[in-house]
Parts: sequence; structure tokens; C-alpha cells
Amino acid sequence: MPKDKFLIKGLAGKRNLKGEIAISGAKNAVLKIMAASVLFSDDLIIENVPDVEDVARMTKILEELGAKVEKFRKNKLRINTSKINNHVLDRESTEKMRASIILIGPVLARLGEVSFPHPGGCVIGERPIGLFLNGLTGMGAKETTTKNGIYNLKVRGKLKGKPIFFNKQSVTVTETFIMTAILSKGKTILKNVALEPEIISLGEFLISCGAKIKGLGTTQIEIEGGILLKARGKKYKTIPDRIEAGSYLLLGALTSNNLTIKNCNPEHMEALTSSLRFSGLKMKIGKNFIQILDNTKTKFRPLQIKTHEYPGFVTDLQAPMTIFLTQTYGESSVFETIFENRLDYVEDLNKMGAKIKIWHPQKISIKGPTPLHHNILKGPDLRAGLAFIIAGIIAKGDSIVENAYHIDRGYENVEKKLSGIGVSIKRIK
Ligand code: EPZ
Repeated sequence: MPKDKFLIKGLAGKRNLKGEIAISGAKNAVLKIMAASVLFSDDLIIENVPDVEDVARMTKILEELGAKVEKFRKNKLRINTSKINNHVLDRESTEKMRASIILIGPVLARLGEVSFPHPGGCVIGERPIGLFLNGLTGMGAKETTTKNGIYNLKVRGKLKGKPIFFNKQSVTVTETFIMTAILSKGKTILKNVALEPEIISLGEFLISCGAKIKGLGTTQIEIEGGILLKARGKKYKTIPDRIEAGSYLLLGALTSNNLTIKNCNPEHMEALTSSLRFSGLKMKIGKNFIQILDNTKTKFRPLQIKTHEYPGFVTDLQAPMTIFLTQTYGESSVFETIFENRLDYVEDLNKMGAKIKIWHPQKISIKGPTPLHHNILKGPDLRAGLAFIIAGIIAKGDSIVENAYHIDRGYENVEKKLSGIGVSIKRIK
């Protein structure tokens, strides 16, 4: 793992940043459409692909399966899976990236077998895979696990469509079963599915390529499966990354009187923008941009945040939001309801001068406003890593954010984008 870190010169609370910051394609949309290439018999072209580490990992896993993945021009991929023949997911890449789990259904449905280790990723909670295994065995797969922790799923003939009720709304589970059902026999009914924009975007594209999906955008989806899809030259354009956009919006709320977050989709960010408006942030929201206005005199009101499935407040913005809350006037709270260990970054913020009390591993209260001072920070995961960058920017003095590789997994050109709006940030190799 490279040991890159970021060195950040803090603004000590000044609102100096300005300009425009352009949002990239969403990591959590592109990884899913890359996996969906397994459902196609012809070339699948993907546009607006962010240049992030997780895309490189997914490319490697697909190539190991026998897919041809070609990067062409800027931010475009062409994937052809007509020759895939290997059902074993690359151990190293799979263990590094939780999102690799979305391949297991499509590969099983296409090749009749799939083998994979327990998928890795961020250390934000237990990350069980029971919903995947139960659903797939319910559709006819036989599961075995080897002594060295490799799962194997096998099916004779085709998987069979079934009604499946999920006792949790899960993003990757929903995506996996939409994709799996497309190559399975008969009708699959998925109940209590998640509604995140990345799922809808995936589903809409698959429908445009011939998939028979009803009820997309509701919590019950019906899929009539059977045959491989054909893209016939249709291109998937990756939707804007709402987490990247939200992170930079929170940064701007604390550091700017004139910053435009462009190429974003504010419709996907309403839980965040409505909270920020309630807190007092003055901003202008357009169809594909959000502009932070003059907030020199704004005394931000505290907020009570509870993470929730979409369209509620997204867990991936919980850590950057906490940084914002250290600067509101009064007592705020954050209740993380999706993952068990997603508040591990809090102690480091307290060392910077924040007043955050941990009531429970998933619940904190924050007293503000507190000026922050510099620190050496080790981001425990991708989203907390970016939150630490925001903390370093608003703090007094020079901060170091270690584990840059976490941030590189999901944020394209982070130091270039931030330097472009006036942040003094340097990557140290
Ligand atoms: C997706 O993870 C995202 N990852 C996460 O982003 C995001 O934080 C999360 O959704 C919530 O929005 C990708 O899209 C690649 P879940 P996912 O299954 O699908 C439980 C990032 O930083 N569950 O929707 O893995 C689970 O423990 C990442 O980009 C089971 O109980 O999350 C959690 O409590 C981090 N059994 C709940 O469901 C299962 O088999 C919802 O999580 C699977 C999940």
C-alpha cells in the first residue's frame, strides 16, 4: 500500500476559498455498471468514469474473469464479457474492495458457478453478506465454504426467479439481485429494496437495453429474466457523485462566500441541502449546480442528524457533516443508523479542539462552535478521510492526513480540485 499523505495549510476559520469545483462520475454508480457488463453479449460503453482506485480494482477483477476492459479517451471504458470463462474472483482485489460482492450474482447466473473470498473494504462495520447468500441459495444455488474462507456458489442449469423479501434495505444487495434476476429463469420479485439514485440509474440503463424490470423507484421490483442483454452501441453516462458533491458543499459552507459545485445533481442531495438551509446556509441551487453565497454573518444553527437509507441523510456524508457541526452554535447530534463503527474518527477531532461526546458507538453530540487546531490524522476509511481533509482546511496550522490511499479509492484528483479553489494541499510521497 503506498504511504502517501496530504499536507494541508489550515485557513484558521477564514472564508477564503472561491471558484468552481467540478464533480466527477459517481464511484458507487460506475462500479455497478461495470459489474453489469457480465449481463451483456456485446460491448458496453461507459462514460464519465472517475479515475479512482476502486475502478482500477474492478477492472482487474473483470479482466481476471476473462473480460476485455479498454480505457479510451478521457474517462471512457469499453467492456466486453463475451469470452468470460473464469468464475473465481481475484482474491487480492476482492479482499480490498467490498463492492466486488456485486459481481457474485451476475457471474453465478452467467457461468453457473462463482468463488470468492469475504469481500473487504472500509472498516466501518460488520459488513455481513447473509442477504446475498440467502437470496442466491433461495434461487437454486448450492453454497460451500472452503477451510481458507473461500465461498463457492454453484447452480445446475439456470437460477430460478423467486419472490425474495430483504429484511434490510441494502444498496448492493438490491443491485445484485436486479442483475442476477435478468439472467435467471422466470419472474423474480424483490421486496423491500433500496432506492438510492445509483440503483435507479443502473436499472434505467438496463431497461433501455432490453431488461424487463417493473417497479423501479419503488420498494418492490419485478424482473422477468432469461437472456443476455445487448447494448447495441448505447452508452451509459455515469451520474454525478452525490457524496463528492456533498463533501465539497460542506467544505464550502465553512470556508467560502462564493463557491460553485458544478456538474452535480442537487435532486439527489436534498437531505443534505435541506439540513444546511435549516442551519442557515445561504446558497443558490440550480439544475446541475449549487453555489455558496456570502455567509460571513451567518451563525449556523445546530442540527440533529440521523443517517437513513435514501432519500434520508446518507451515511457516507455523516463524517463530513460532523465537521460542519463543530462550527454550529449550540448542541448538535449525530445518530449513525446504518453501520456499527462509523464514528471512529471522533477522538481525533476532539484532539483538534472539537467538543464531541460519544454516548454510544453510534451516537454523538457536538457542542459548537469550536475553533480547530492542526493535527496528524489517520483516516480510518474513505469518507472519514475526506472529512479529515475538511477538518485540516478549517483548522489553524498545518495538518497531515495520512492514508491517502483510502481517499484515492473514491475521490478523483482530490488535491488538484482543492488547489483549484485555493486550498494549500500537497501530496507527500
Ligand atoms: C453501499 O454499501 C455503498 N457502497 C456504501 O458506500 C454506502 O455507505 C452504503 O451503500 C449505504 O448507503 C457501494 O455502493 C459500493 P448496504 P453497501 O448493504 O451496499 C446491512 C463508500 O464509502 N447488510 O446498503 O455495502 C449492512 O450491514 C461506501 O463509498 C446486512 O445486514 O451497504 C448495513 O447495516 C462505504 N446483510 C445495511 O445492510 C447483508 O448481506 C445497509 O448497508 C448486506 C448488508
